[in-house]
Amino acid sequence: MEKIGLIYASRTGHNRRIAEYLQQQFTTLGQTVSLINVEQVQISDLEKLSGFIMISYTFHDGQIPDEALTFFDELQTADLRGKVYAVTGSGSIKHQHFGRALDYFDQVFNHLGALRATAVLKIDQDADRGDLARLTSFCQQYLDFERLVTQTQEK
Ligand SMILES: Cc1cc2nc3c(=O)[nH]c(=O)nc-3n(C[C@H](O)[C@H](O)[C@H](O)COP(=O)(O)O)c2cc1C
Repeated sequence: MEKIGLIYASRTGHNRRIAEYLQQQFTTLGQTVSLINVEQVQISDLEKLSGFIMISYTFHDGQIPDEALTFFDELQTADLRGKVYAVTGSGSIKHQHFGRALDYFDQVFNHLGALRATAVLKIDQDADRGDLARLTSFCQQYLDFERLVTQTQEK
């Protein structure tokens, strides 16, 4: 149950690089992580993880990527109560609905009873130095929140 799942959707590499950066950060912080392409993720895997981070681009007119739709549909039957999650990803500010797929993921996880560790973090195109610094804090906030939840559950 110690594994944090890093579930990503990426066409041109921005989000894969974000996922790999998070993997590196969490590993440095002594965490066991699992990098999972959204096309390969099983709902049963998700339920076994201690928590997860969704990393995705936005496509079409503010939509969830096509390859993530099966996962999104299957999520409706998942039991995510009490599970910690966070959402980040790269979109483009040139589009009207910047990073809107991230809001959809956030809404569904929240609806299914999962607990958001930190605010949704939207990145424009490839992550720059400022974004990487924000992603480092994002990892720390995730772990701080997870610790808080574990302490509360143990009481
Ligand atoms: C056809 C098309 C539609 C897109 N629509 C959106 C959009 O509605 N909102 C948004 O934030 N980004 C949109 N994008 C931008 C991508 O989400 C962005 O380039 C992202 O960084 C790609 O991530 P990836 O390199 O991991 O595939 C669109 C890109 C393409 C090619």
